[in-house]
Amino acid sequence: MVIYQNISLKPYNTFGIDVNAAQFVRVNTIEEVQVLCTTFNLAERKKLIFGGGSNLLLTQDFDGMAIKIELNGINKIKEDDNFVWIKAMSGEVWHHLVMYAVDNNYYGLENLSLIPGCVGAAPMQNIGAYGVEIKDTFEELTAVEIETGKLVTFKNEECKFGYRESIFKNEAKDKYIIVSVTFKLSKKGNLNTQYGAISDTLKQKGIAEPSIRDVSDAVIAIRSSKLPDPKVLGNSGSFFKNPEIHANQYDALKLKYPTIPGYPLNTDLVKVPAGWLIEQCGFKGKRIGNTGAHKDQALVLVNYGEATGNEIFALAKQIQATVFETFGIKITPEVNII
Ligand code: EPU
Repeated sequence: MVIYQNISLKPYNTFGIDVNAAQFVRVNTIEEVQVLCTTFNLAERKKLIFGGGSNLLLTQDFDGMAIKIELNGINKIKEDDNFVWIKAMSGEVWHHLVMYAVDNNYYGLENLSLIPGCVGAAPMQNIGAYGVEIKDTFEELTAVEIETGKLVTFKNEECKFGYRESIFKNEAKDKYIIVSVTFKLSKKGNLNTQYGAISDTLKQKGIAEPSIRDVSDAVIAIRSSKLPDPKVLGNSGSFFKNPEIHANQYDALKLKYPTIPGYPLNTDLVKVPAGWLIEQCGFKGKRIGNTGAHKDQALVLVNYGEATGNEIFALAKQIQATVFETFGIKITPEVNII
């Protein structure tokens, strides 16, 4: 394990922001993670733990230790007639895990195809897309407790999953390094094609009885058509969460803005697409300096090349303020701003 000094983090964050980390280290094994925690007394240090760097906005040089998780491996650890338990190490690329599941006809992850990032980051914010979240197939995870270097297990309920939320963004923040995640996938066909864009894509292709691969391919086609590839245009996927507002507020807005989309969560709350709100405020496709909201999906902020983290952060604040002035709705970032 080598600790490098003053390393640019540009290659390690999908926004492509060029800031330096005072120290930079890659970890490849659980033992290395444990050594870092104990011998290097990680609990007392300023640290940035990341995998794919796909949910990060770096606004300044990082005067602590940046730790890149590179633990690899995907293994079947158990199966019965109906289910299979797959354990993936936290540094595995998320999409590789999904492709492994699709190749083997294990159901449950196909709607999450092509989400950028690594396996270890997935439970942090309960990644989700097209009607599925990882909490639906998540069995447990193993993490190293930073304070002690000991391995601990978190079962599904212990992770306190919510919409883009988990215990690891709240009370357990900065206390653990996730090293592996186990998923319980189904061997029997159980596809979720309810989400409009998926059923439309399958219909267009004339597929009435989709296979797991058909659904994965449909998701890949939808994502590729409106989400920019970070290798081409720096971004971190959805920048904001979709806000949940009171049904009364939604009804009042609906009178003023009849086309406002809304998905009732229960009798009291309605989820409103932040992309729609941002588009209505005129930001979609608008370029401001080196940054802007993407032309095909306003919820995605992009780096046109040389943007600084602060430029993107300033745009995010401007968007938040305008959405609030216009609709009285607070939108909050999904991305981790450092
Ligand atoms: N919309 C607009 N204009 C836009 C974008 C969206 O009007 O520029 C409206 C449309 O009404 C559209 C609706 O928003 O029907 C929903 O859009 P979309 O299906 O693209 O989904 P989203 O709510 O914007 C969420 C996730 C995505 C995930 C998609 C698909 C969040 C914050 N984002 O986006 O996740 O891929 O649903 O399920 O919940 C991510 O988290 O990085 C991410 C990409």
